[in-house]
Amino acid sequence: MKKEFEEFNSSIDFDRLLYQEDIEGSIAYVKALQKAGVITDKELQKIVDALQEIKDEIRQEIPLPLQIEDIHTAIEHRLTEKLGEVGKKLHTGRSRNEQVVLDERMYLKKEIKNIVEVITSLQKAIVKIAKDNIDLIMPGYTHLQQAQPILFSHYILSLAFMLRRDKERLLDCYKRMDTCPLGSGAIAGNPYNLDRKFLAKELNFSKVSENSIDAVSDRDFILEFLSSIAILMMHLSRFSEDFIIWSSSEFGFIEIDDSLCSSSSLMPQKKNPDSLELIRGKTGRVFGNLFTLLTVLKGLPLTYNKDIQEDKEPLFDTISTVLACLKIFKNVMATLKFNKEKISKSINSYLLATDLADYLVKKGIPFRESHKIVSLLIRYAIEKNKSLKELSINEYHSFSNKFCKDIYDILDYKVSVERRNLKNIVKKEIQTLANNLL
Ligand code: ARG
Repeated sequence: MKKEFEEFNSSIDFDRLLYQEDIEGSIAYVKALQKAGVITDKELQKIVDALQEIKDEIRQEIPLPLQIEDIHTAIEHRLTEKLGEVGKKLHTGRSRNEQVVLDERMYLKKEIKNIVEVITSLQKAIVKIAKDNIDLIMPGYTHLQQAQPILFSHYILSLAFMLRRDKERLLDCYKRMDTCPLGSGAIAGNPYNLDRKFLAKELNFSKVSENSIDAVSDRDFILEFLSSIAILMMHLSRFSEDFIIWSSSEFGFIEIDDSLCSSSSLMPQKKNPDSLELIRGKTGRVFGNLFTLLTVLKGLPLTYNKDIQEDKEPLFDTISTVLACLKIFKNVMATLKFNKEKISKSINSYLLATDLADYLVKKGIPFRESHKIVSLLIRYAIEKNKSLKELSINEYHSFSNKFCKDIYDILDYKVSVERRNLKNIVKKEIQTLANNLL
């Protein structure tokens, strides 16, 4: 029974990921203990050397004792194995409650920087695709119905801007995460007169936490991270969905590279966009991770309770999932092929209805009225099974005498896109992103 509980209680299987931060935190802590006169110079040196060795041992995957509860205890245990009595001094005045949250803050700060870099490289890939296909006209959709002709480059750059906001959110939560909790003790602070500013500086934190009760209870920084990543994944998922639809034989706008698809085990003709489907699917578990932690914290009495140990798996899972998804999504983007003919053929001629209405506005008809005229005209064209170009000038005249021969000049998708100055807007977007991807 004892063994069963020990396994149940243990987090070492997953919190070993924090070993580097834990050791760095301990090194800073013993330095502060020495500064405060709690340990001698010699003891400090011994502990620091031994901790460095332990770091190498763990890096070389020398197995940690399994019956030990967590990475913090395991490292301290190993230190005492190595140094005897001196090792036992490391934890003077310190609690795992502050230690765990310190490690998590350090770990997550590093991971945020890493994720931000990976997002930037995806943004660069997007900018490249936009540049390479700057003139590609496609139908733009609202309600999944064709709305107006747009440039694919404009469409795909919208993701680069969403990603820019995602990075802003991450870097914003980084600012609050960048607070050193060490010195908070288990709940009520530290009696050894530690120099907390020194600790923060040693560990690259820009400030120290002010309320020890808050410091050991708080997991907002993880929640903020999980919600920022949930939003980012939602963005990737929406684009995945568009590309999945566009790669279907009904649309046939794009082809996803074979290396990112699978074939059906039963139907030889099939090529499935698994990469994008998995990104869409994994978005669900990233949302779930946010809800796991929100639920763990809801109704949890202050301060530390063991429930909080459940913060780690959702956090680590979200980090590895988002990194994998960003990388795969970038590969999909970088190898995307366009079926330009199919895209251009798919554009419905009635998409120029708004352009016709604008034409009448230019001739002095108020927009609401021109909208009505064009609606009737489109209904007529559909009835006659004619495209807008196939309607004669007399037919146009029967709807409004403001229609002249030059109407045929605007019945062109390219003109429609140019009227909205889209190409220049795209060029400006590319410039903005190049200057400031953040
Ligand atoms: N493994 C624990 C966790 O991850 C560390 C803190 C334990 N603190 C305690 N008072 N039992 O939350």
